[in-house]
Amino acid sequence: MVLPRTLRYEDGVLILLDQRALPASAEEVRCASAADVASAIRTMAVRGAPAIGVSAAYGVAVAARQALAHGDDVRDAALEACAALQSARPTAVNLHAALTRMHGVVDGCQPVMTAADLTGALEAEAAAIEAFETQASRAMGVNAARLLPDRARVYVHCNTGALATVERGTALAAVYQLHDEGRLDVVVVGETRPRLQGARLTAYELSAAGVPHVLVVDSLAATLMLQQALDAVLVGADRVAANGDVANKVGTYSLAVACTHHSVPLYVVAPSTSIDMTCETGADVTIEERSDDEVTAVGATRVAPRGTRVLNPAFDITPASMVTALITERGIVAPVTEASLAAHLAGIS
Ligand code: MRU
Repeated sequence: MVLPRTLRYEDGVLILLDQRALPASAEEVRCASAADVASAIRTMAVRGAPAIGVSAAYGVAVAARQALAHGDDVRDAALEACAALQSARPTAVNLHAALTRMHGVVDGCQPVMTAADLTGALEAEAAAIEAFETQASRAMGVNAARLLPDRARVYVHCNTGALATVERGTALAAVYQLHDEGRLDVVVVGETRPRLQGARLTAYELSAAGVPHVLVVDSLAATLMLQQALDAVLVGADRVAANGDVANKVGTYSLAVACTHHSVPLYVVAPSTSIDMTCETGADVTIEERSDDEVTAVGATRVAPRGTRVLNPAFDITPASMVTALITERGIVAPVTEASLAAHLAGIS
């Protein structure tokens, strides 16, 4: 089976693979306005930090192309789109970073630039953001695979693969690389309550690619470490703060605690654009709270009594001291500290 593409931009429309319907059916969502794209991000038709960033960038391009077609002001439409998309999801820095780049194209356009040229420039910028993520994904996979032993048994959380990005993924790119090199024994996939990105999306991707994997409930991870059944845990990141604290899918911190206790390496695989030096520590990251029904129901079936109070943060913070290494497209950062991150970004390490 060939995995359908996460997203594509065609004739002023962003076409997304609807991840809410996977793995039961491969449906598409057509986004013909920035509001459509914002809604797709908010409702998680598209999700995963890099994919959200690329989608938001194309959301601005969609708005510009539509404005051009209707004779509206392209500049105004693009700026309105940036504003509308900004709040779609708060935790992943990629959304903010992509929109900053798109805003920069509008700010930098010369007064003599035609509406058609500005539209073209916005489309080119979105394509450049996508191209960066594509290249970064391959490089991250190669860099992270170097840290892992032959016959590697790795644990992955959430979905960090092609569906979360536009290529092979972040943490899952390392898995694909190991598989290509014939060095992978098995991937243990945590189901990832409450939205089951592991069970629904990662297992789907790995099946499509023919990568050996086994699905477990999240709460089995520590026991597998106790049994010495894992060589490493690989996760992605939605935002890495300046001090190296990592915001990622809720449950990452629990994995970090178990890794620390059992001396299992925890590798965070993320593009350098996920590092946010303006955010001092993990405490400064906005953690998205999602709706109660994600927890009180499994799919369409309610499992908790009506009126049950729920806490449903979508992400958590793992302290930098618990991260064995951060792997980006540029290389490996270990230990993860403010100084090592700054050096990495400056191209010194
Ligand atoms: O809520 P999601 O599915 O968007 O969360 C995704 C994650 O937490 C990933 O680990 C993260 O985006 C980094 S890897 C693409």
